[in-house]
Amino acid sequence: MNVPDIIIAVDGYSSTGKSTFAKLAAGRFGFLYLDSGAMYRGVTLHAMESGFAGASGSIDTAGLLASLDGVDLHFEADGLHIGKRLIEPLIRSLEVSSLVSPVAAIPEVRAWVDKRLHLFSEGGRVIMDGRDIGTTVFPNAELKIFMTADPMVRARRRFDEMVAKGESPSIDDVYKNLLERDRIDSTRETSPLTQAPDAFVLDNTDMTLHEEIVWLQGLIQGRFSILG
Ligand code: CDP
Repeated sequence: MNVPDIIIAVDGYSSTGKSTFAKLAAGRFGFLYLDSGAMYRGVTLHAMESGFAGASGSIDTAGLLASLDGVDLHFEADGLHIGKRLIEPLIRSLEVSSLVSPVAAIPEVRAWVDKRLHLFSEGGRVIMDGRDIGTTVFPNAELKIFMTADPMVRARRRFDEMVAKGESPSIDDVYKNLLERDRIDSTRETSPLTQAPDAFVLDNTDMTLHEEIVWLQGLIQGRFSILG
């Protein structure tokens, strides 16, 4: 397996804006952007559609694991696909959000996703966001960032995002889902969400996206002479 040229790992709590930040940074600095959370969401959608995960929160772990190798989950230019089907809008629903953390806590699901993340990253400059990129998936990443922000500010951002998409969630449900996912993600046994000791913390409670990118630019200019 080739080791990618440069990996930037962006980890942090739910709805801290990791994806928006990482996507913009990827375009700005010429990296491939990979959204590891989308992979867990894709597995969760597959589990729901195949009857391995129910609205009650029950998961048929054995059934799900047995089905995984037949699932062609991959990224194309327009986002995550299962086979030919674009599943982007579906994986961002509150239904998927409320089941994804229990699904992502299953060690074999994590191993399956990690293998694919390594394959997708082979031989390139990659910026990847998630919960355990700098700690487990790429512990030798050249640059690690840990994102955080005030929980109510995060809930408001996610709520606005969903409303802009035409959904009508309650802010209370969004807030509760976010805290519950943070709790499950931080306390699970396999690869819990923790800050890597060598990560730079980005608290963007009072920052604009532009300020975040300027912050990152300072960091990577100091580290990689190739990037401008
Ligand atoms: O969009 P948001 O930041 O809220 O979440 P996401 O990045 O789409 O990830 C969805 C869920 O996948 C998280 O709440 C975690 O349970 C799980 N996840 C994980 O366990 N490990 C990762 N590297 C990425 C996501």
